[in-house]
Amino acid sequence: MSKLLVKGRQKLSGETYVQGAKNSALPILAATILTKGENVIYNCPELSDVDASSRILRYLGCEVERYNHTLIIKGDSANRSDIPDELMRKTRSSIVFLGAVLARMGKAKLSFPGGCEIGPRPIDLHLKALREMGAVIKEKHGYLDCYAPSGLIGAKIALSFPSVGATEDIMIAASLAKGTTTITNAAREPEICDLADYLNKCGAKIYGAGEGVIVIDGVTSLKGSPHTIIADRIVAATLMACAAVTGSDITLNGIVSSHLASVIPVFEDAGCNIKCSGGSMKFSAPQKLKSMKVVRTMPYPGFPTDAQAPLLAAACIADGTSVFVENIFENRYRHTGELVRMGANIKTEGKVAVVEGVNSLYGAPVEATDLRGAAALVVAGLCAESSTEISGIRYLERGYENLELTLSALGADIKKV
Ligand code: EPZ
Repeated sequence: MSKLLVKGRQKLSGETYVQGAKNSALPILAATILTKGENVIYNCPELSDVDASSRILRYLGCEVERYNHTLIIKGDSANRSDIPDELMRKTRSSIVFLGAVLARMGKAKLSFPGGCEIGPRPIDLHLKALREMGAVIKEKHGYLDCYAPSGLIGAKIALSFPSVGATEDIMIAASLAKGTTTITNAAREPEICDLADYLNKCGAKIYGAGEGVIVIDGVTSLKGSPHTIIADRIVAATLMACAAVTGSDITLNGIVSSHLASVIPVFEDAGCNIKCSGGSMKFSAPQKLKSMKVVRTMPYPGFPTDAQAPLLAAACIADGTSVFVENIFENRYRHTGELVRMGANIKTEGKVAVVEGVNSLYGAPVEATDLRGAAALVVAGLCAESSTEISGIRYLERGYENLELTLSALGADIKKV
């Protein structure tokens, strides 16, 4: 089992290109099932979660070829409507295949995606919406048996929570439904807009993505198309945290600064200087971070829950107290226990984590238990005295492409052993 070995307190410098967004690539890969002809997906990150989605596409009969960061996918030969359990469990987001397979094949059989490390991951909003679109869904023995023999019908759907996955599932299913679907209280994340941009290039008629209400006029077919995945705003926020804890100046390229509009002020409160122009960000950290005050995770455009762990790690060595409120997931503070082992002073109580800044963290053997928690441990290792050994880095590889190579190219002393 490989681990990361990080020797702390090395300054970073230079510039790096931020990878394509995992949470944009995954729903777009699922949506390719709807299309006839060739899709060329550029800037697709090389991640285990993307590989898992590619395996599902191949299992369903699609052709998938990868050339570095470009994936060529043809959905024409899709001929199956079931996804076996071992493929479903590889990544939580595989539920987004439900709407795609149902819309393409008229039926779908897949296992309940497991919960994951950050809490139970219910799919009630997905199922309720697809039923409102005419799907018959039976849940038994951990499997979902779904039918829409005469195709899906456009419906007015009101989401009780702006769920990212449910919004994506509905957008994909509605693209080929008969009639018009309206999603009220839709998620507004940039990845939703990226998915809508891709589907509209394929001939879909999706209006209002990025707003609270999305309208989809169903069409009869979709044509494969080229598309470039947007930059990963959470990877960008993670690299900002790495620079923040090492008092470094770095430049991030290929980003969309507006997607970081709720993250940038938190770093500025902590004393960092951030200048964005075009697709680049110049990030400059102070020698000592100030407290991040209060950080509340919210649906976009609020502060992203996925950035909570890496920024909380940075707050551990700030001068003062930072308070985090995790409003999206039930169990997303598992990294705090490992940070305390490294000398952090953190108290969690339900949604709230109170972080009293300490002078310094010290290296220790720590264990990652989820994707963003793993990133938090890397951030902590970069500023800790002596060395930190991080195990469980398979979680990191789900969402970060070669993070250790990116960081060592910026001057960090970090290697996979
Ligand atoms: C997406 O997960 C992302 N994953 C998550 O990123 C991200 O944290 C999350 O959106 C919120 O931004 C992908 O895009 C692949 P949700 P998703 O549906 O779609 C509840 C990462 O680290 N809910 O918006 O699962 C749910 O329990 C990952 O990259 C229901 O109750 O998130 C949660 O509390 C982690 N019923 C809240 O809504 C449902 O049917 C937000 O979930 C669906 C969700």
